[in-house]
Amino acid sequence: MIAVLEKNDINRIKELEEKFSNIFLDGDIENDFINNPYTKYIIYLIDNKIVGFINYYEIYDRLEIVNFNVLDFFQNKGIGSKLLDYLIKIVENKKLNNITLEVRIDNDKAIHLYRKYGFKQVSIRKNYYGNVDGILMEKEMIDVKDVYVLGIESSCDETSFSIVKNGITEIATVISSQIDIHKKFGGVVPEIASRAHIKNITFVLEECLEKAKMSMDDITAIAVTYGPGLIGSLLVGVECAKTLAFLYKKPLIPVHHISGHIYANNLVKRLEFPLIALVISGGHTELILMEKDYSFKKLGGTLDDAVGECYDKVGRVINISYPAGPIIDKMAHVGKSKYNLPIPLNDDSFNFSFSGLKSAVINLVHNEEQRGNEINKEDLAYSFQNVVIEVLTKKTLKALKEYKVKHLILAGGVAANTGIREKFKELCEFNNIDYTFPSIKYSTDNAAMIAASGYYAFIEGRRSNLSLNPISSCELK
Ligand code: KG4
Ligand code: ZN
Repeated sequence: MIAVLEKNDINRIKELEEKFSNIFLDGDIENDFINNPYTKYIIYLIDNKIVGFINYYEIYDRLEIVNFNVLDFFQNKGIGSKLLDYLIKIVENKKLNNITLEVRIDNDKAIHLYRKYGFKQVSIRKNYYGNVDGILMEKEMIDVKDVYVLGIESSCDETSFSIVKNGITEIATVISSQIDIHKKFGGVVPEIASRAHIKNITFVLEECLEKAKMSMDDITAIAVTYGPGLIGSLLVGVECAKTLAFLYKKPLIPVHHISGHIYANNLVKRLEFPLIALVISGGHTELILMEKDYSFKKLGGTLDDAVGECYDKVGRVINISYPAGPIIDKMAHVGKSKYNLPIPLNDDSFNFSFSGLKSAVINLVHNEEQRGNEINKEDLAYSFQNVVIEVLTKKTLKALKEYKVKHLILAGGVAANTGIREKFKELCEFNNIDYTFPSIKYSTDNAAMIAASGYYAFIEGRRSNLSLNPISSCELK
């Protein structure tokens, strides 16, 4: 139980002094506490005995934590978090603007806890604790009524900024695509991609703010894709986000690219849980179960190539320019069933495999060429897409049934595929399953999805400091 220490409760004051005699000298608390109107304490009681406390000052619009301690025996039991929760409620009720504190630079446990609560490092205080430095940390109390998140995406070949309100309403989005630059190479060239991001990034930001008729002052927080993706490309977005967060004193939120693809659906309709997300992009093919916001349970994934990658590689075999996905999609609509291709990893697992399918297409094309037969590209596109649809729908429906889930969402660039959408629509309606697909324009990479996902990460208290680094390959969590 948490209680406020009263100024006239001499017995409790004495108890506190005794229990924490390593911190306080005899008479210390009494003098400061009783005579100083700004000094306050909240105490944590177990069996009516003090086991922890926070001592703080309330000064005008802010609150300063002076001392925070839990008895050794009662540590790691969530008591510190409960005291902090209580304190934050006080700050919210009194509409104070921020909380500050100093912590020893080597106190990893405390620093971790404060970070979790959204405290950011403001500065280092040299030798604050004898010969150990102190970190001054601050938590800004932001009015969570209307949160405007600026999203930044640069993980591959799109430089994009977007402003989204409360995770659901898109205010403005600008996407600068490099497709034309990479087309002649048959795929994304990493070094060229990062250079193009550097060239574009400030212009895209300016255009986005202009389009939204907003300034950086109107932004609540900055969300950026930190991974997975091309490391050089990611770096440009992350450095930009860090610079903006530092300059404009905004919270910095790290966003996993795939969580962005998933939350692209939130811009169409608020996600309903539990749901199954089928993530199909150039780098990923995964089935994910979500029971609430920001809870991702991977049920299965590709053992080799991603489905988008497979589309692009098949495209190369039949001389279609990068990215081949949308073109194969169009061709498949004119084609008919002609070629026999194997259904890859046609088993009971939730895993996928697409490299065998790609090889089967390559073999088929070579064999036909050797026989002097001309390939009907539309028919090949149809036959190939049909196999993809077959395996994706089979495993996804099985997951929905097995986990008794009634909501399906599609996510990632390949979710733009009209054949895949049509089949899922038909099957979901037949099986009484609600479905949401991302809008076509936000199926492929964009910053609106990063801003939408960033909002829920922000609400969860996820924050990064300025040491955030991009990661080329990382698990969704
Ligand atoms: O999500 P995304 O923009 O980038 C990654 O995160 O990977 O996805 C790009 C992939 C490319 O492989 C592209 O060929 C594929 O999505 N794609 C499509 C379609 N539109 C884009 N694949 C099949 N059908 C489409 N209509
Ligand atoms: Zn993507």
